[in-house]
Amino acid sequence: MKLCIALDNPSKEQNLQLAKDLSHINDEIWLKVGFRSYIRDGNAFVEELKKLGFKVFLDLKLYDIPNTMATAAVEIANLGVDMFNIHASASRVAMYEVMNKLANLQTRPLVLAVTVLTSFDEANFEEIYEAPIAQKAEQFAKMSYENGLDGVVCSAFESLDIKEITSDNFITLTPGIRPFNESSSDQKRVADIEFAYKAKSDFIVIGRPIYQSPNPLETTQKILTQIKQLKGAE
Ligand code: C5P
Repeated sequence: MKLCIALDNPSKEQNLQLAKDLSHINDEIWLKVGFRSYIRDGNAFVEELKKLGFKVFLDLKLYDIPNTMATAAVEIANLGVDMFNIHASASRVAMYEVMNKLANLQTRPLVLAVTVLTSFDEANFEEIYEAPIAQKAEQFAKMSYENGLDGVVCSAFESLDIKEITSDNFITLTPGIRPFNESSSDQKRVADIEFAYKAKSDFIVIGRPIYQSPNPLETTQKILTQIKQLKGAE
């Protein structure tokens, strides 16, 4: 299980400072660039993170018609990021088109599909999808697996079942992690590190509990130590 830190700070300078503070452990963590940072700081920011030696997950959650998604996916691959994502609800046609277009490239980033956002609770989800979260998350995961994606974004609560209906090699990336009982903020389905580990999560995504902590480096080290302990206890 790897740690992926969400760089959602209010300024580029704060994000870069955090990345620099963590650069001596750049082989142990991934960095996630989402809407806020990418819209404000663009690809120059991604390049700076790559120069610091990090693997970068570009979290732009593509959702559009299949051709637009597939051509955008090629542009994302050309940026040199290591992983990006699309919305599973854009359909199996969109998934197929994206993977088909990327297949023409010599190398491509990992591609994940967002199943159900961790900010959904059952009531809000039901209003849109008229189905329970777990059922839809599994359906989206199966569809993603069948269309050659590398994995999905889901909550830690769905990770294990998704592995069972797909494959142990099919990546689950789980946001909504609160390592030390921090506030869940807008996240509705939060889990701790041990839960995510037992659910076979491949990547845990942590944002606010790290970048808003008084000492982000120390918090990161504590999380990495806990992951190592869990691995060692096996
Ligand atoms: O601050 P926090 O740890 O809640 O950050 C979680 C990060 O993961 C945010 O950048 C959010 O956009 C992202 N994310 C999520 N749920 C998803 C996909 C991405 O929370 N399903």
